[in-house]
Amino acid sequence: MLADVTAFLQDHAHAERKVANSALALAAQHHARPKLVSAMIELAMEELTHFGQVHDLLVARGETIGHNQPDPYMGKLFKLMRRVDVNEYLLDRLVLFGIVEARGCERFRMVGDALPPGDAREFYVELTRCEARHHALFLRFAREIFGGQAVTERLDQLLDAEAEVVRSLEIRSALH
Ligand SMILES: [Fe+2]
Ligand SMILES: [Fe+2]
Repeated sequence: MLADVTAFLQDHAHAERKVANSALALAAQHHARPKLVSAMIELAMEELTHFGQVHDLLVARGETIGHNQPDPYMGKLFKLMRRVDVNEYLLDRLVLFGIVEARGCERFRMVGDALPPGDAREFYVELTRCEARHHALFLRFAREIFGGQAVTERLDQLLDAEAEVVRSLEIRSALH
């Protein structure tokens, strides 16, 4: 995964930016749920801070964030979302974003372990904690809005589907 550190960081930078975008889209569409809107604004600010931090790491290496590359993992996950019914769509987004945050948490732990001691390593260790918190945040909102049983059932289905997606991907120097 870390064969090409610059490519990994560039992919990670754009991933942070896209998570912020997704959180803001959720806030805009669910304006009638002020608690969710507040949480998504806060999350977007945090993810944008991460975007800035990864950008700084790249600049320190004499690099830029580079072009946005499509993320095949996220592309396939978005296809799993049911979009016809507004509630199903919200449930699927909350659960899938929760899964994505959990994956980020696992990946950043591996990256932190693989890096030599220093600022970048500290940064990835810190990100591990953030992603664990974000995972819990999405699932907490899902349970509050839809109830524990509906979330557990959909989480099971989407975790199976996500495992299929992961198996279908090529290995590359990227977050996912
Ligand atoms: Fe982040
Ligand atoms: Fe996050």
